[in-house]
Amino acid sequence: MISRNDLCWCKSGKKWKKCHYPEEAVLSSFEEKAAFYKRRYNIILKTPEQIEGIRRSCKLSAQILDTLCKAAKEGVTTLELDTLARKLHKEANAIPAPLGYGDPPYPKAICTSINEVICHGIPDNRALQNGDIVNIDNTTILDGYYGDCSKMVHIGEISEEKQRVSDTAKKCLYAAIDVVKPGALFCKIGDAISEVAEAANCSVVYQFVSHGVGLYFHEEPQIYHHRNKMSIPMEEGMIFTIEPMINAGLKEAVIDEEDDWTARTIDGRASAQWEHTVLVTKDGCEILTMI
Ligand code: MF3
Ligand code: CO
Ligand code: CO
Repeated sequence: MISRNDLCWCKSGKKWKKCHYPEEAVLSSFEEKAAFYKRRYNIILKTPEQIEGIRRSCKLSAQILDTLCKAAKEGVTTLELDTLARKLHKEANAIPAPLGYGDPPYPKAICTSINEVICHGIPDNRALQNGDIVNIDNTTILDGYYGDCSKMVHIGEISEEKQRVSDTAKKCLYAAIDVVKPGALFCKIGDAISEVAEAANCSVVYQFVSHGVGLYFHEEPQIYHHRNKMSIPMEEGMIFTIEPMINAGLKEAVIDEEDDWTARTIDGRASAQWEHTVLVTKDGCEILTMI
């Protein structure tokens, strides 16, 4: 049993009584925990009703993403995928979250990030070519709830390097999902991703983060993919994305000066990303964006 003068379990180096004690020790009900996380970290613990709404939105988001991935073939333009995404949202009475989001307002419904594009690639008239890898990122709003996920699609025959970076990003995602459970610190996600990426001789993009999601597109916390010291413990009812961006070469991202969105690798080498939205459960997590 930890006592008040012991070092805090969160590894902050502070005494327990000066760190996560006594507040958490006396938190018992959902309401107390939710108030604590909101006040201390601005993190929203979701109620069962909210979880149900977000679960439905995530399911739809994953289904739409699956249809988009199946449509992503050689010769298809990313604009055609964008048009399809709008149609699928409309048919489901849902809204694509990126449209008009941010500053400058994002101009399209999905992100399509090809080869050296790390994230936030804007759909255009370029047709997918043999040898491309493309990340399709779909965020759906259904009944006011958000579901966020992305996957890679490989077009025809791709290079060994592109295969490695895409496989590694996927492995990073699942290694990170494996650490999610109540009490686990958010820095464990960065550790898990870094370990897998380093073993595959890939680098971890540090300029973009995973994020809380559900009632808004981007909520607290911001979760780092590189090694870090974020000592917030996960708690049942948290919902967040895990979306590591992994590069074959250098880790740095450069944002396009003309559109202010497209993020590319600084060395022009390939990048890949896979993303799920997860819910922290009693003893682990549930991947909400699984079809
Ligand atoms: N879906 C992206 C994410 O995973 C965010 C895209 S922001 C946008 O967080 F405006 F470009 F859509
Ligand atoms: Co996201
Ligand atoms: Co996303």
